[in-house]
Amino acid sequence: MCGIIGFAGNTEAVPILLDGLERLEYRGYDSAGVAVASPEGRLQVKKCKGRLGVLREALAAQKPLTGQVGIGHTRWATHGEPNDVNAHPHVSQSGKLAVVHNGIIENYLEIKQSLLHKGVVFASDTDTEVIVQLLEYYYKKSSNLMDAVYEVLNRIKGAYAMGILCSDFPEQLIAVRKDAPLLIGYGADGNYIASDVTALLAHTRTVTYMEDDEVAVVTADHVQILGRDGCFLEKEKHQIQWDVSAAEKGGYAHFMLKEIMEQPEAIRKTVSPRTIQPRLADGEIVFEELEDERDLMKGISRIYLVACGSAYHVGMIGKYALERLLGIPVEACLASEFRYSGPLLGESALVIVISQSGETLDSMAALREAKRRGSKVLSIVNVMGSSIARESDHVLYTWAGPEIAVATTKAYTTQTVLLLMLGVYLARRLDRIGNGEYQEIVRELHGLHERIGMVLKNLELYQKTVARYFNHDSVFYIGRNQDYALGMEGSLKLKEISYIHSESYAAGELKHGTISLIEPGTLVVALAAYEPLVEKMRSNIVEVRSRGAEVVAMTTEETRDMIGSQASEVFVIPKTHTLLQPVLGVVPLQLFAYYIALNRGCDIDKPRNLAKSVTVE
Ligand code: AGP
Repeated sequence: MCGIIGFAGNTEAVPILLDGLERLEYRGYDSAGVAVASPEGRLQVKKCKGRLGVLREALAAQKPLTGQVGIGHTRWATHGEPNDVNAHPHVSQSGKLAVVHNGIIENYLEIKQSLLHKGVVFASDTDTEVIVQLLEYYYKKSSNLMDAVYEVLNRIKGAYAMGILCSDFPEQLIAVRKDAPLLIGYGADGNYIASDVTALLAHTRTVTYMEDDEVAVVTADHVQILGRDGCFLEKEKHQIQWDVSAAEKGGYAHFMLKEIMEQPEAIRKTVSPRTIQPRLADGEIVFEELEDERDLMKGISRIYLVACGSAYHVGMIGKYALERLLGIPVEACLASEFRYSGPLLGESALVIVISQSGETLDSMAALREAKRRGSKVLSIVNVMGSSIARESDHVLYTWAGPEIAVATTKAYTTQTVLLLMLGVYLARRLDRIGNGEYQEIVRELHGLHERIGMVLKNLELYQKTVARYFNHDSVFYIGRNQDYALGMEGSLKLKEISYIHSESYAAGELKHGTISLIEPGTLVVALAAYEPLVEKMRSNIVEVRSRGAEVVAMTTEETRDMIGSQASEVFVIPKTHTLLQPVLGVVPLQLFAYYIALNRGCDIDKPRNLAKSVTVE
């Protein structure tokens, strides 16, 4: 969704802002803009509908915007259509103030009405413009910019991360946050604000995460952070481990393919620090993060796995696994539904929130609801220091590195493996898993990254196979148990990047209605890697084949013949412990979706209408 970059330094701001916006493109946007304060105190703004290239061309065609302090924004439209006027930055009526904003101002209509009565003229349809016009109104009244900022904060309701420029103070920018991410970066040529660390990696890895209700005043050589009461705060600086190359394509045609190929490394980094190598002695899963909470499960009688999109599909796999391992009810819940569905929260419920970005608003709201109602929250998050990570009681980080493609791949596999490891770890502590099975899982965890590497050696097979299927306009995914959950993910991958209609069904459920849609030529992706139900899956494949479906199957080496003989095409994955099988099984589905989208000429890394991190409800 929307992205913010701001710079106050000793060098021209526009190139830095454009570079930052380029690195934020992956979040999804429909317009972009920059505002720069000239040293003599004049705000210059350029903003355009469309890709960043349009803004670059527009800037190149006019007199350069000069100045060393500026703000930039990529907008994902919520209020008002995507056009030049609704793009950010928004400027106050006098032209003295400019604002970029992520989030939504809930009471903007009421504020707009009162400003209209005072004669303020609005240019755009956005909620953001009320911020800048209101700021000007208070600034005119008090002649004190910081007082005016606090007046605005007292008045507006909703979520916001903001960057503010004022022509009376051309050497500074002001940053504000509430319920939307914003961080400050400390660089050699100046200081930065950004909504996402990837925008800063080329300049600095030293950052401070802003908390809700904090206000920062940023100049070339100073950063002051103040609390809601106006007092100065001492804030910790953090070092980001990710390097800039991790957020670049590195020779791949798309970030998505690069990230698919990075999975062996991402899995190794996520698994190996948490497992003791089984040599002569027995192996062990260790979570140092949970050292202080050895009784995490004490008094816990149910678990909720709460997440959105692909992370929810991870939760579905976790439901099957954790329920079996721990012997207590485990529910996978869509975060957007969670707080409205009367979950049985309280001290006896453990809530596990799963999120790559750590900023998904629905997941964040579910987390807060769980905490408010007395449940312990553990989160599985990829982005360090993100809001979900900071508000959880315990955090387990997936070490996938930055994920840029909108369609998640390496975050999904690392989330899955981490959740499964957590389940096994807890089962061991509760004495609910036999040593034999436990040791086998630990051993298999060690070899998992190599097995993913084996699947990825077969890229040509996928490329060739997919060429036959890219023209289908509807695809069904079927599977049982954890393969059903996997089908949900495969189907979502296909939908989001290729725009092909697709649905996922529990294979046994087809006969209760959906089988009526199967006709000669219908494409069915049949997932048959869950060993206990492979024979039943074989029958389901026969069912759809006998109605003319074309079947692409996914199974393991062990059942290749049984399943392969019934399918037009079969993707074979190495065998591992049943519990871990989905970590391998998802890879062919990612590649299938990727090559179909490639064949259809889709914008794979930035699919239409989608955003990487969804920070609206
Ligand atoms: C999956 O490819 C999507 N990008 C989307 O479903 C995503 O998983 C979902 O929005 C949750 O995001 P999060 O993991 O950052 O919370």
